Parts: sequence; structure tokens; C-alpha cells
Amino acid sequence: GLPERVTIYEVGARDGLQNEQEVVPLQVKEQFVRRLLAAGLPIVEATSFVHPRWVPQLADAADLMANLGETGRDLPVLVPNERGLDRALELDLRHVAVFGSATETFAQRNLNRSYDEQFAMFEPVVRRATDAGLTVRAYVSMCFGDPWEGAVPIDQVVEAGRRLLDLGAGELSLGDTIGVGTAGHVTALVEAFGAAGIGPERLALHFHDTYGQALSNVQAGLLAGVTTFDASAGGLGGCPYAQSATGNLATEDLVWLLTGLGIEHGVDLDALVTTSAWMAEHLGRSSPSAVVRAMSSA
Ligand code: HMG
Ligand code: MG
Repeated sequence: GLPERVTIYEVGARDGLQNEQEVVPLQVKEQFVRRLLAAGLPIVEATSFVHPRWVPQLADAADLMANLGETGRDLPVLVPNERGLDRALELDLRHVAVFGSATETFAQRNLNRSYDEQFAMFEPVVRRATDAGLTVRAYVSMCFGDPWEGAVPIDQVVEAGRRLLDLGAGELSLGDTIGVGTAGHVTALVEAFGAAGIGPERLALHFHDTYGQALSNVQAGLLAGVTTFDASAGGLGGCPYAQSATGNLATEDLVWLLTGLGIEHGVDLDALVTTSAWMAEHLGRSSPSAVVRAMSSA
């Protein structure tokens, strides 16, 4: 059956903005994060402590977190390596996320490391973060298909996830980075993790909507017992290091589905739509989310 309650993990300020060419002003980012929280989103991932040359849009990560003050300390941030963790620790943040790849090619393109080397890079990050009392989420990218390698075998994804959990990460977010996955594949992947002793309570699902399958994939995830779903306000997003990665599943579309199913999520949809419409104005183009369009065109 379906769960009674779902946790929405909002990635708009990070995954959503990281691919934007024009740098969004710091004050707009801060406002965006605050409005997402005010709309009832329980977890708002704020930014990334990556190399500013790799993701210029998020070069202001430390300033954003400083401006957010005590509120910011409760928001997760991405940290790929020890340098990233040090930057997060300097600001006394409490939640970090590492991000690995299920494929060799994307590990090299996104992290400048081989598949095996990425785990060596994450090992001290996860160990030091957990020792310091921080929570650690681990993303796995390219869980369904990879633009360079094609279809990604399920066993390979389970192996990558297993290694990240063995390092000490608390939660795994399985990413369909380029949005090629379909519902049957989601069911099979969650079941394969279960067969490896990793139950759906340790998993989150992270869909991009490139092929329009994200909501159908969420439904498959719900039926498989997953209760945490990543989404991006207004459907912003994409990864600058993954060819053909377009917008994330829009949070509004997810909220509409969950409400319809009678599943609790805690989000004020009107406030969220208003926020996404406001951000779309800043970015100079309308939201790709069907729900945002329907609700803001009246
Ligand atoms: P590298 O060039 O191999 O780094 O990059 P390095 O370790 O060789 O260090 C080189 C220099 O960079 C040094 O400075 C370091 O201090 C500095 P120098 O001594 O030359 O002056 N440096 C840093 N500076 C600031 N912050 C840091 C940092 N690290 C090193 N954290 C690195 C390796 C991992 C840093 C680089 O590849 C990188 O930043 N990659 C990030 C790419 C990225 O952000 N991608 C998008 C996020 S992933 C995603 O979107 C997918 C997801 O949404 C899920 C899904 O959809 O699948 C999560
Ligand atoms: Mg993503």
C-alpha cells in the first residue's frame, strides 16, 4: 500500500540553480531559501561547497550560509571532498551530502576521479562529518542510464550505494540524473536494494523529468515503500556535467500527486507556486512545471 506521509527533500536552491548561466544575486538566493522554508518544505538543500571554477553559480556558498545564520545551520549542503567539508565545518553546519556516481565516466566528468577513487575521496569526509555529529546523505548519480555509457546495470548501482553506506552515510539518494528511468526500472532497483539488505527507509529517490516519467516513477517508488522524494521548486535544474540533464521533478507536481493520493506532505502549494513564479521572473523564463503553469495563469 501507499505510505501515510512523505518527506519532500527540496533541491531547487542547489540542483535547481547550479546550472543557471547567469549568476543569481545572493539576496535572491537567500530569499528563495527562506520562502521555500516558509512554504512548509521540511528539508531545503541550500548550496554546494564545490570548487567555484566547477560551479561558478554557487561560488557564494559561504556567504549564503552566513546570511542564513541559525536557519542555515539546519540546511544540508553538498561537499565532495575534505576541502568542502572544512568549509562547511567553519560555518558550523549540521548536515552535509556527498555525491557519487554509479558509472566510471560520470565519476571522472563530475568529480575528476575514477569510480574507485571517488570512494577514497569520500571516506574521510563521511568519517570526519559523522565523528563531528553531522548527518551525511549520499547521492548516487546515473542510477538508470548514463549519457556516455548507456543503460546502467542494477547490480552496479547497488554496489555503489552499498559502498557509500559502508562508509557511514545515513541515507542514499538514488538519482536519475538524465531522467531516462521508467516505473518498472524503479521497482526493480528498489527491490534489488532490498535483496541486498538495504530497505526503502534508507533510500530517497531523485528524479529528473527529461522524458516526462518523474511522477510515474514516484508512484512506483511509493508502492515500493520509499517515503523520501527529492524535488525542485518550479522544476528548475540540471547538472552542468551531465549532457542532456534537464529539470528536476517539480516540487509542485509532486505535491499535487501526493495531495491527490491523500498522502501528508506539509507543503502549502499556493505559497510554493507563488515562490516559483517569482523565481521564474528573476530567471526571465516561465516554469516548466505543469502545476505552476496551471495555477499561475489565472
Ligand atoms: P579537482 O580539480 O580534482 O580538485 O576537483 P583537487 O582536489 O585537485 O584541488 C584542486 C584545487 O581546488 C585546490 O586549490 C583545492 O584547494 C581546490 P589549489 O591548491 O590549486 O589552489 N578545491 C576546492 N576549493 C573549494 N571547494 C572545494 C574544493 N576542492 C578542491 N570543495 C572537485 C575535484 C570534486 C573539487 C571538483 O571536481 C568539483 O568541484 N566537482 C563538483 C561538480 C558538481 O558540483 N556537480 C554538480 C553536483 S552533482 C549533481 O548535480 C547530481 C545530483 O543532483 C544527483 C543526480 O541528479 O544524479 C546530486
Ligand atoms: Mg540532480
